[in-house]
Amino acid sequence: MLTIKDILNIYHSKIDYLDLELLISAIIGKPREFVMSHPEYRINSLKIENLKLKIARRADHEPIAYILGQKEFYGLNFRINKNTLIPRPESELLVERALDLLRSMLRSKLRNTIIIDVGTGSGNIIISIAQNLLSGRFYGIDISENALLVARQNAKLHKVSKRIKFIRGNLLEPLLKTRSTGLKDKKIIIVANLPYLAKNIYASASPDIKKYEPRLALLSGKNGLAHYEKLLIQTKKLSVVGCRLSVFMEISPEQKSALQKMIKSFFSKVKIAFHRDLSDRWRVCQIEL
Ligand SMILES: C[S@@+](CC[C@H](N)C(=O)[O-])C[C@H]1O[C@@H](n2cnc3c(N)ncnc32)[C@H](O)[C@@H]1O
Repeated sequence: MLTIKDILNIYHSKIDYLDLELLISAIIGKPREFVMSHPEYRINSLKIENLKLKIARRADHEPIAYILGQKEFYGLNFRINKNTLIPRPESELLVERALDLLRSMLRSKLRNTIIIDVGTGSGNIIISIAQNLLSGRFYGIDISENALLVARQNAKLHKVSKRIKFIRGNLLEPLLKTRSTGLKDKKIIIVANLPYLAKNIYASASPDIKKYEPRLALLSGKNGLAHYEKLLIQTKKLSVVGCRLSVFMEISPEQKSALQKMIKSFFSKVKIAFHRDLSDRWRVCQIEL
């Protein structure tokens, strides 16, 4: 048996204090506030052995979210594993901007609106949107079946599994394959947090990211814009069959002007807006077609 105070004293030099508190909190099944306010609380040796393994994983750079198997996003807890990116707080801006637009629509229009999350990962974005809307037709697409397994679990956990269809596919391909007949003249809202790290940025990322998060979720060719280029080409096909489209894309701030140029090269009539994140950096590009 050791007390919380003993454990903090022994292990605080190995990993961050905050991470240590979070791991203790997970092991004893009590909130972090409890850990902070009950140094005398005694932990049995079985739990301590388990805790030691988790401390070793963290010391080896494994992100705390993977060790805990969950991450909070837009006020909800999402299951995650090594097949899914860890949801980032800056991606909440995609949810906010999409919801702003959706909430401004008439109820009757919203019912027939199609909302697609491309590169859904753990499903955090589309689930957060669906949770905040009473109607709409929701899709989550990912190229990774293993990520989709997690997204489906999360949809069940948050009681929206009947409202969201998760499909495996290359960007919008699954929808384009339906010959667009069902999509003709529809309002479609696309939210996309696709891989957008350029090779050099990925190379300088921390070991926590490079060693543990899926490369497939992060790295993109053409200075990080290859996935968005393909998405824009597919979007153009939808606009040709008469769909009205709003597309929200998460970017890295330095990609703003290159993406703007790319969009203009594909569409002659397009409204483009960029939104800043909480750190005042360009984070989301919105286009209206
Ligand atoms: C940056 S992660 C975003 C995950 C999640 N939406 C989030 O915000 O945490 C990008 C996701 O896109 C998926 N992906 C990569 N290439 C894809 C493609 N060609 N088509 C569909 N999904 C793709 C990855 O598997 C990954 O889940």
